[in-house]
Amino acid sequence: MLDVEKIRADFPILKSETRGNPLVYLDNAATTQVPQEVTDRIVSHYAHDNANVHRGMHHLAHRSTEALETARQTVAHFVNAPDVDGVVFTRGTTDSLNMVAQGLKHLLDHSNKVVTSVSEHHSNLLPWQQVCQERGAELCVLPLDDNGDVDIEALECEFAAGNVSIVALTGCSNITGSVLPAETVAKACHDHGALFVLDGAQLMRHKRIDIQAIGCDYLAFSGHKMMAGTGVGVLVGPLASMELITPRDFGGEMVVKATEERGIWEKLPLRLEAGTPNYVGAIALGAACDYLSKMGRDEIARYEDELLQQAENRLQVVEGLRIIGAPKERAGVVSFTIDGVHPLDLCCLLDTKGIALRSGHNCAQPLLNYLGLESVSRMSPAFYNTADEIDFATEQINRASVMLRARSR
Ligand code: ALA
Repeated sequence: MLDVEKIRADFPILKSETRGNPLVYLDNAATTQVPQEVTDRIVSHYAHDNANVHRGMHHLAHRSTEALETARQTVAHFVNAPDVDGVVFTRGTTDSLNMVAQGLKHLLDHSNKVVTSVSEHHSNLLPWQQVCQERGAELCVLPLDDNGDVDIEALECEFAAGNVSIVALTGCSNITGSVLPAETVAKACHDHGALFVLDGAQLMRHKRIDIQAIGCDYLAFSGHKMMAGTGVGVLVGPLASMELITPRDFGGEMVVKATEERGIWEKLPLRLEAGTPNYVGAIALGAACDYLSKMGRDEIARYEDELLQQAENRLQVVEGLRIIGAPKERAGVVSFTIDGVHPLDLCCLLDTKGIALRSGHNCAQPLLNYLGLESVSRMSPAFYNTADEIDFATEQINRASVMLRARSR
């Protein structure tokens, strides 16, 4: 069992007030808060160990490099990566997905296709649109089934039609919370000789992700959605898959040798980490992985599922409220619309009570368009939220919607 009150004490921001009310932070799908031990790690690195990495011969440079490489091992262990050299630090999920799309475009031409879905965050759609346009490859966008899950039969049809080179899907939609049966997709990809890119942005904090058990070729995720702070992310996969990625960025420390004419690339992971990396961010990510592991990742998933279920149940009583999607497995988020209530008005009104939700298209415009919507409200609890906060937020949603509807009449 998680000791939620003890956990909350780890996050100074949760003691704060917003607009004169205690903060009720339910926007964890956008970004999560950072525990004190992660911020302490950042401060400690700058205070005691800071020097550029993989470059200097002095003692401090060795210490700093060692801290970065320890973080890489921690991240590798966290996702059960088969090889630590397959862990590449990036700026975040968007950067990771752009890196893999650009790095695999040499495999694409007019004879093959990339498959993605209408459920994707823009960051797992636009990079593939770009490379398909550039290379003349076909981009197939899978529809959803009646529950709002990615239509796996449609994926099978694409495989049957042939020439699928890459499948890029989100492990968990940031709108419906639909969890992808990633192992099934990975197996189908490998049976048909396709590479499988898994967008893990919304999953990492919530669920134990084992890339060897899943069998994906690439997993992309962000530090700031798993208690590590902004500006760092990861692209990870088995070495054989990572070796297929050609560098997108060129510069310092990614070459073993450079002449006036050309460079000879370093081995992984340095080849894909040109320039001074965000090593302090990566070290913070390692500290966040340690924090989540210590908390118990299965416990986190179980408790967050409970909170989400509670939110879904309480929201049902709000008149005119429609929850978006009814996925077989929902994680992390519940999005909804309320008849006669604009999501932006609702979120602004809740803000006056200290409640932080997200509203808008949430960078998933194709999905909202597919569902005939322009915007939604979204609640995304994390393991530091309490059942009382869910009750308070849902009660305030009810009150606010009554008020907003009365005004619009
Ligand atoms: N991708 C983040 C969200 O869904 C920012 O809110």
